[in-house]
Amino acid sequence: MNPRHFISLLDLTGEEFRYLISRAIELKNNRDPDYQPLKGQVLAMIFEKSSTRTRISFEAGMTHFGGSALFLSPRDTQLGRGEPLQDSAKVISRMVDGIMLRTNKHETVTTFAQHSHVPVINGLTDQQHPCQLLADMQTYFEHRGDIKGKTVAWIGDGNNMCHSYIHAASVLDFKLHIACPSGYQPVKAIVESAGDRIRFFDTALEAAKNSDLCVTDVWASMGQEEELKQREHAFKDYQVNTAVMKAANDRALFMHCLPAHRGEEVSANVIDGPQSVIFDEAENRLHVQKALLEFLMGKK
Ligand code: CP
Ligand code: NVA
Repeated sequence: MNPRHFISLLDLTGEEFRYLISRAIELKNNRDPDYQPLKGQVLAMIFEKSSTRTRISFEAGMTHFGGSALFLSPRDTQLGRGEPLQDSAKVISRMVDGIMLRTNKHETVTTFAQHSHVPVINGLTDQQHPCQLLADMQTYFEHRGDIKGKTVAWIGDGNNMCHSYIHAASVLDFKLHIACPSGYQPVKAIVESAGDRIRFFDTALEAAKNSDLCVTDVWASMGQEEELKQREHAFKDYQVNTAVMKAANDRALFMHCLPAHRGEEVSANVIDGPQSVIFDEAENRLHVQKALLEFLMGKK
């Protein structure tokens, strides 16, 4: 039997996404150390890129649930010496109960999933970051209730986070206003998958107008460090600052997946201000990924 994977938010129905959020809130509010649904299970975590939140939240989550997590870097395994992905996926999945990957290319995760006997979780690729959206949406639901019919403004790069916001708009049915500099738009096929829920605006102020949540991310993602100078120039008018938050609804929240660069994509007074929920967002990675691990790997 093919295991259930979590590669993209489109792998979930709206009902399942909402279930994971409510389960995450339940796990967060009633931590029971004796509840160990993944006792003895092992999650392999393959990181081609750096991480603080993703690594710690998955590792802590597995420990809370009575299991354990293995940190694997391509540098120290045969993955970095060219062992075929197919062979690696088959071998690793014979020894563990789940595999989480953070990779440069999205296709690395999809190839792993095709050949794995156990659930594969996308912990960020160049194209998507679905686990972060689980946490962002849990955070929105906790502060403001269901996001259905609300308006989210995405300001900045049309990157992996932007793509996962587009997917979330489809699955949870909210409107997404996007303002990206020209040349940095999200992938067309992903935009089209969400239909008329997505609208593009020329400026950050226009996108933020009447929005319930403003979100941004770094101007240069991991792997794009060499483009930083060029990107700083292209994105200089796409900062989320007080003027942008004023254009949004009075009760609008501010989110950022972190790590952030104050003074670049977001001003310090916004990210450290009263509308910002960035640390709830970061903490919720732990709770909602526990819900996800239980959903994919529990009740064997
Ligand atoms: N937001 C996020 O994924 O953080 P890390 O890169 O620290 O895992
Ligand atoms: N867009 C960022 C997200 C980091 C969590 C990156 O890919 O580096």
